[in-house]
Amino acid sequence: MITNTELEYKGNLYPNDIVDFRRDAEKLYFTTSNGVVLEISVLRDSAFRFRYATENIFEPDFSYAISESASIGYNKLEVEETVTEYLIITAKLKILVDKRTLRIQISDLEGTIINEDELGFHWEENYQFGGNTVKMSKITQNAESFYGMGDKATHSNLKGKRVNNWVTDQYAFSKDQDPLYKAIPFYIGLHNNSAYGIFFDNTFRTQFDFAHERRNVTSFWADGGEMNYYFFYGPKIAEVVNSYTDLTGTPELPPMWTLGFHQSKWSYYPENRVLEIAKKFRDLRIPCDGIYLDIDYMEGFRCFTWNKEYFPDPKKMVQDLKNDGFKTIAIIDPGIRIDKDYWVYQEAKDNDYFCKRGDGPAMRGKVWPGECNFPDFTNPEVREWWAGLYKELIAEIGIKGVWNDMNEPAVMEVPTKTFPLDVRHDYDGHPCSHRKAHNVYGTQMARATYEGVKKFSFPKRPFVITRAAYSGAQRYTSTWTGDNVATWEHLWIANVQIQRMCISGMSFVGSDIGGFAEQPSGELFARWIQLGVFHPFCRVHSSGDHGDQEPWSFDDEVTDIVRSYIELRYQLLPYLYTMFYRYTKENVPMIKPLVHFDQEDHQTHFRTDEFIFGEQILVCPVQEPNAQGRRMYIPRGTWYNYWTDEVILGGMEKWVVAGLEKIPLFVKEGAMIPKYPVQQYVGEVEVKELIMEVYYKNGVERSSVYEDGQDGYDYKKGRFSLRNYKLTGRENELIIQQYKGGSYISSYETIKLNFHGLPFTIDTIEIDHVQVPIEAVQLEGNSSIVVDKGFTNLHISGF
Ligand code: GLC
Repeated sequence: MITNTELEYKGNLYPNDIVDFRRDAEKLYFTTSNGVVLEISVLRDSAFRFRYATENIFEPDFSYAISESASIGYNKLEVEETVTEYLIITAKLKILVDKRTLRIQISDLEGTIINEDELGFHWEENYQFGGNTVKMSKITQNAESFYGMGDKATHSNLKGKRVNNWVTDQYAFSKDQDPLYKAIPFYIGLHNNSAYGIFFDNTFRTQFDFAHERRNVTSFWADGGEMNYYFFYGPKIAEVVNSYTDLTGTPELPPMWTLGFHQSKWSYYPENRVLEIAKKFRDLRIPCDGIYLDIDYMEGFRCFTWNKEYFPDPKKMVQDLKNDGFKTIAIIDPGIRIDKDYWVYQEAKDNDYFCKRGDGPAMRGKVWPGECNFPDFTNPEVREWWAGLYKELIAEIGIKGVWNDMNEPAVMEVPTKTFPLDVRHDYDGHPCSHRKAHNVYGTQMARATYEGVKKFSFPKRPFVITRAAYSGAQRYTSTWTGDNVATWEHLWIANVQIQRMCISGMSFVGSDIGGFAEQPSGELFARWIQLGVFHPFCRVHSSGDHGDQEPWSFDDEVTDIVRSYIELRYQLLPYLYTMFYRYTKENVPMIKPLVHFDQEDHQTHFRTDEFIFGEQILVCPVQEPNAQGRRMYIPRGTWYNYWTDEVILGGMEKWVVAGLEKIPLFVKEGAMIPKYPVQQYVGEVEVKELIMEVYYKNGVERSSVYEDGQDGYDYKKGRFSLRNYKLTGRENELIIQQYKGGSYISSYETIKLNFHGLPFTIDTIEIDHVQVPIEAVQLEGNSSIVVDKGFTNLHISGF
């Protein structure tokens, strides 16, 4: 009896010997006798793309992830041939392509292997859906560590783990649960002090095995599509992250208010309640910029409608909030209620904008409004229509930001939590099933939202936040980590997730502070705020089922602690804004895990808790109840304890005192940290003086401060101010040089420098090489002076 076809026994298929090589400018093509084609594109001397076709031809090349402004250009590209291999040489790397197996090996110019194929590319035919399961296996190098991969709620070092990418609505997820809301198939490998990165740009479900199944093998594979990955060489993790972020893009600068504090809940309604919450912030003098309307503002959860009983005059409410400095953000989900009397539904239906099942009917699924259809956001025409829907919300009512949720897409009451796989998508003119479009659906929704919000907010800047995301989503939107839980473990998870997201290209990210599900104790809430103010996006949000979660919902001690940390965030706005500027301009992640800060120090390879906020501030949250402090690793270098100015030498673990009102916080020596005065919301007060906290160093350190109009696009015409500082300290003197770029004129005339750790008593001050009387700089004790903002050279000395 024959029960198996020949195909069923084929199993893994492999390329065999190379029979043809062709070069077309920066693209190199290797063809094997069994019809496999490997296309290697040299993007830069240290960045390549590898693409494999199995039947001689490639599918049309299309990606949602890649940014149009990705930089390309190399200095050298030579190909040599030997009896056994092809050798590709750039100014930084060598790639060997084995003639018998098509396996590759990448090494630096000294010959140190950075990455090499084990089995290399192989595949399995997919009988159920057609196409292939495409696979790649690599040799895990000695003591190799792995990082990245987006929102994985697991140890920052992925060695020994297997993870997969299928964006999923994972309410109250737990530690190690996978997959979650994001699909970011990008990882960093680190061994022998050098790092590389791999971005597997394939939107099907992808899996990554980091020496989990076999100790010496790292592999990744996808349920369909092409083996198509980018390789970036460091040797610094910073360079790898920079290359990946450059390839997948960064956002434009957001309005500065989005870096303030945001308060949310499911849901604040009716109108009076929203106004009451806002007033309470002002009464208690707790700074806040953003207030959120969750699904209950809508009429029967129909997007782009208002519940007129709860919100009789939304425009007036939004205006009242605005008068008090609040910006209103409203939620919009993808599910459109099936209702013939609902205009959004009718328009989409009439224009054929909804996703369809394989055999033709519209995709139906239950979400908050009940039975819904879902726009196909992978269709450009649908995106344009969707963008247009925001006109009333933004241009007329005055909503300042849009929150896209449930866009995994989430479907209720089905075990898969999402669309069936046969659902069809346009995929920008490359029609496909949900297997391929699932992971990008949410990003394309956020993209359409971004286009609309941007258009109707102009000349101001837009703000969008999404739950689901695929690589590249950061070009359009910020994000949060979804439905977490009010537990200490989730505080740990949030810390790891935000660091991981930042080195995975998506820096504008935060967690639901305090936890979405369940209710935190006052202590947990305070500890979470202490961490949350150091995340790029800072919002309290909760399900509302288990009580209140406003800063004043606990006791007075907690309220005071929360206020003081939110105030600190507002003081640090120029620092945070400068971090954001560097992210957008230089692809630098806003938050850096310690391994990113100092990869050569092997102590950092398995650290999870400590991170660098921006360039020069070291943060380590307290993640346990009843703590009076904690042990933490201080990375190499010299640091100032932010609270006490105590100077400590890093490169070791230390016990750091931190009662409930303190989070361990350190500043790198030599740093110049800019501060604004406390404001109740961004723009409340005109900044009359820029404060610079100057941390003395015997040596050189650079810092910078970026400023502009805080909203709008004038900065693109040069109206920004970039102050670059070089601090040089010696035993008896300190020199600060300032180089200013851009034509923006800041509101303040003077800069107040607060000195920390000066080892001498100031007796002489020269500004731009001219000695000035001490009275002219308002010297206070030995610790602060006030100088004109235009100085270029400040020289203080003493004994
Ligand atoms: C989802 C979101 C959550 C939101 C809720 C109601 O659970 O993740 O943030 O509050 O839906 O819209």
